[in-house]
Amino acid sequence: MPELAYLNGKIMPIEKAFVPIEDRGYQFGDAVYEYIAAHSGKLFRMDDHLERLEQSMRALSFPPVPRQTIVQAVTDLFAASQMERAGIYIQISRGVAPREHAFSNRKPVQIVMTAKSLPDAHPHAQNGAAVITLEDFRWSRCDIKTVQILPNTLAKQKAVDKGVYDAIFISEKGVIREATSSNVFIIKDGKAVTPPLTPNILPGITRKVIFEICKNETIPFEERSFTTPELYDADEVFLSGTVTEILPIVSIDEKPVADGKVGPLTGKLYRELRRREKGEPS
Ligand SMILES: Cc1ncc(COP(=O)(O)O)c(C=O)c1O
Repeated sequence: MPELAYLNGKIMPIEKAFVPIEDRGYQFGDAVYEYIAAHSGKLFRMDDHLERLEQSMRALSFPPVPRQTIVQAVTDLFAASQMERAGIYIQISRGVAPREHAFSNRKPVQIVMTAKSLPDAHPHAQNGAAVITLEDFRWSRCDIKTVQILPNTLAKQKAVDKGVYDAIFISEKGVIREATSSNVFIIKDGKAVTPPLTPNILPGITRKVIFEICKNETIPFEERSFTTPELYDADEVFLSGTVTEILPIVSIDEKPVADGKVGPLTGKLYRELRRREKGEPS
C-alpha cells in the first residue's frame, strides 16, 4: 500500500510532501501532534485523540481548528491509504513565519498528516520486553503532546544502546513517571496501579481504555504514585500506548520482573484491548 501524506488540504504520496523551512514546528518545535491507530479498517478512539490534540493546542495558545476539518482529513487520508491496520500521524504547527521567538496567534496553522501501515502485533507482545530506568530530564509540561520530544528520543537510544527495548523515566526521588512513548502500569496482588495524571506524564488514551476494561472485567485498579522499589517488586509490569498497545515488561534494570514471564493479568488486559480495537463487543 502506498504511504500517503496530507498537507494543508491535499493528499499526496509521502515523498511529494514538503514543508517550508520557516515552519515554526521545524525551527522552534512549535507544534503539537497526535497518533491515531486503525485496526481492522476502523480508527480507534479518534474523538479521544482529537480532544487531546485540542487540549495541546489550547495549552500553547494556538488558534482553534474546527474538529470537523481534522476528522474529515483523517478519514479521507485513511480511506485513500486503503490500509486495514494503520497509524495516522497528525502534526499541527503554528505555521510559517519569519524566525522570531514571539508569535502571533492570528497566523494560520500548518496541518500535516501521514498514513503508514502498522504490523499485525507489536514484536514484543508475546514474550515481553526489557527496560531500564532513567532519571527524567524532560521539561515540566509533559502532559502537552508537543513535537519537542528530543529527551524521549535520547532516552530511547540509551535503552537501545544497552540492548533493551525502552527506558522508564523516574523523578529525582525515584517516583515512576512513564516510558519514552508509553504509560506504565504495575500489577500487585491482583490490582493494576498506574501513576496519577500530573504535568509530568501524558494522559494516555490507552491508559484510559485500560481503566474501562478493568471496570468491565472487575479488575481492581488505582491511580497513585509509586517508586522504584515497588516497580522492581511488582507481580507484573506493562507499558501502554497506541503503538505499544499493552506490552509486557519482563526485566527492569537487568532484574527479572517476578519470574521473568508474561503475567496472566497483562495477558488478559492485552486480549481485551485487542478485542476493543477490532470493534468486537466487550
Ligand atoms: C510520552 C508518552 N506517554 C504515553 C503515551 C501513550 O499515550 P496513548 O495511549 O494515547 O498513545 C505516549 C504515546 O505517544 C507518549 O508519547
